Amino acid sequence: MKINTIYYEDCIEGMRNRIGEGSIDLIIADPPFGIDFHKMGNQYNRKAEYVVRGYNEIASEDYYEFMWQWLKEAHRVLKETGSCYIISGWTNLKDVLNAIDDVNLHIINHIIWKYQFGVFTKRKFVTSHYHILFTVKHPKKYYFNKIEHYPEDVWVIKRPYRPGKEKNSTKLPEALVEKLILYSSREGDLVLDPFMGNGTTAVVCVKTHRYYIGFEINPDCQRIIDQEIQEAKYITQTQKTSKEEPKTQKSITQFLKS
Ligand SMILES: C[S@@+](CC[C@H](N)C(=O)[O-])C[C@H]1O[C@@H](n2cnc3c(N)ncnc32)[C@H](O)[C@@H]1O
Repeated sequence: MKINTIYYEDCIEGMRNRIGEGSIDLIIADPPFGIDFHKMGNQYNRKAEYVVRGYNEIASEDYYEFMWQWLKEAHRVLKETGSCYIISGWTNLKDVLNAIDDVNLHIINHIIWKYQFGVFTKRKFVTSHYHILFTVKHPKKYYFNKIEHYPEDVWVIKRPYRPGKEKNSTKLPEALVEKLILYSSREGDLVLDPFMGNGTTAVVCVKTHRYYIGFEINPDCQRIIDQEIQEAKYITQTQKTSKEEPKTQKSITQFLKS
């Protein structure tokens, strides 16, 4: 297993072949939701030309099996003190919950993430939340760093709006991933993201001094992920050496070219 590495392959095979039992401190997983985002087109406020092709979706009828397969590996690779956060829409939530039970992960919290940009509807309520299932391998041994005095289970965090920037179809806000990482890991811990997408978990790991390892089945994401990680390294490096705010897009571009 090589740390600070993303493998462009199926995460189930990848975890099986590359990651040893009990070696991961924290898993952040934002799997495909089993709904067809492509059909939704611009409803999600994205211009098609900025969205990377080849996003890998799972058919609804295969969803439980897919969840069970990767969660079984997730359970195996987690340390006894480890946690696994699973982000899910509501459509296939029952399969997610059943698979969590069936691989013997324990649910500690059911967090609701409320975002903006819900899809316009005529005859039903607008969905503007996701579920984040906070699960652990061992209910008495898991690490939890209570960074807020009164940590509630409803989080209002805006989705990033990054006009003109290329991205995979869905991207989590860094603020959300940072919250998960700060609550459930220490500096120097190893964080696994089986569904890297745009590399948000890797970026936040760089910024918060954690190690990362991950998988992404779509090789077209590599270009975006590499660029995002380079930017994160630059930002972290300049914050260490300077008290000013040097993060203009121009200085980042110059750094990436050098
Ligand atoms: C919801 S997106 C993740 C977005 C990511 N959290 C971010 O912030 O950018 C899910 C990703 O999982 C990838 N994927 C789907 N099936 C996979 C598999 N079996 N192994 C690895 N990656 C997979 C998709 O290509 C997609 O990029």
